[in-house]
Amino acid sequence: MTLRTGSRHRPLLRLYFLATVPVSIFFILASTKVDPAYRLTRTKKLRLGLRMFLNTIRIPTASSFKVHLVMALKLLEVPHHQEGKVVECGSWQGGSAANLSLVCEVTGRRLAIFDSFAGLPEGEAADREAPNYQAGDFHGSQDDVRRNIERYGALDCCDFYPGWFEDTLPQVDFPVCLAFLDVDYESSLDTCVRHLWPHLVDGGHLFVDECAIPDYVALFYSESWWDEVFGTTPPGLIGAGTGLALGEYYIGPWDEQDAHPLQHITTGAYTRKGMSGHWTYRPAGHGSVSVVPGRRKSSATGSGRDQPAATPG
Ligand SMILES: C[S@@+](CC[C@H](N)C(=O)[O-])C[C@H]1O[C@@H](n2cnc3c(N)ncnc32)[C@H](O)[C@@H]1O
Repeated sequence: MTLRTGSRHRPLLRLYFLATVPVSIFFILASTKVDPAYRLTRTKKLRLGLRMFLNTIRIPTASSFKVHLVMALKLLEVPHHQEGKVVECGSWQGGSAANLSLVCEVTGRRLAIFDSFAGLPEGEAADREAPNYQAGDFHGSQDDVRRNIERYGALDCCDFYPGWFEDTLPQVDFPVCLAFLDVDYESSLDTCVRHLWPHLVDGGHLFVDECAIPDYVALFYSESWWDEVFGTTPPGLIGAGTGLALGEYYIGPWDEQDAHPLQHITTGAYTRKGMSGHWTYRPAGHGSVSVVPGRRKSSATGSGRDQPAATPG
């Protein structure tokens, strides 16, 4: 995810970004919840963070090392004994995959990498992101990705699933503790969430790179989509519209980006299985909220607050 930034401002942004690298590593990886089983001292955290930062320079990478660090943090907080693989959908040259593989090495997990390894597919007519791309954009062959991970990451932790997501993701038959979706198209996001959500463990994290486009992140708040697909309420998304608050200056909105040349957004957003982004309150006498099976509903006749679970049917 990149913003068009006037070349006049680029050096200033670069300087700011570089100067804040150690600070970002320190603050993002500061957590009392990291499982001691991973034996990660402050020095080891700093080394891991610097390696992840350098990887995004050594390998052409379309996502920020800061969001890679946040994913590292969430994985380090997962207890060692809890099951679950890490999944990446969308690897391009393997920059984010190399970084995730380093965290998998520390935490003893496997990284499943899903990509066409032929770039983006042909866009669908109903996909509002499709006009921004061409088929074949972000092409990275499986050999390129393997080579980059071998040089800069931990290839031993990785499994590769080449092909279109709609063909490969139905093969997922294992628990997932963290998924990173960096897939550009709305159609690809839909396919990934549809197939991965059921395998995400309770409390597992699902990250997206595209976080600023309101229509795109709306999937995570769409009551009709979550009801139709999973018979549940939407989970919401932390960082929706702006990205995670990781020391970037971005005020938005997205479609007025040229008005703010120094504003920059490099981070992503995430949701967690078990989180909720579902509005239920209605003032008394203003109708009732449509209900999905087994979930709580609000009532126009009551206080407007949650009522006991509705009976299905
Ligand atoms: C923006 S790139 C990923 C960037 C990478 N995560 C990084 O940080 O450098 C998007 C990737 O998604 C893949 N992709 C998008 N839609 C796909 C689909 N339906 N099936 C397979 N691969 C897809 C493309 O091949 C491309 O490698």
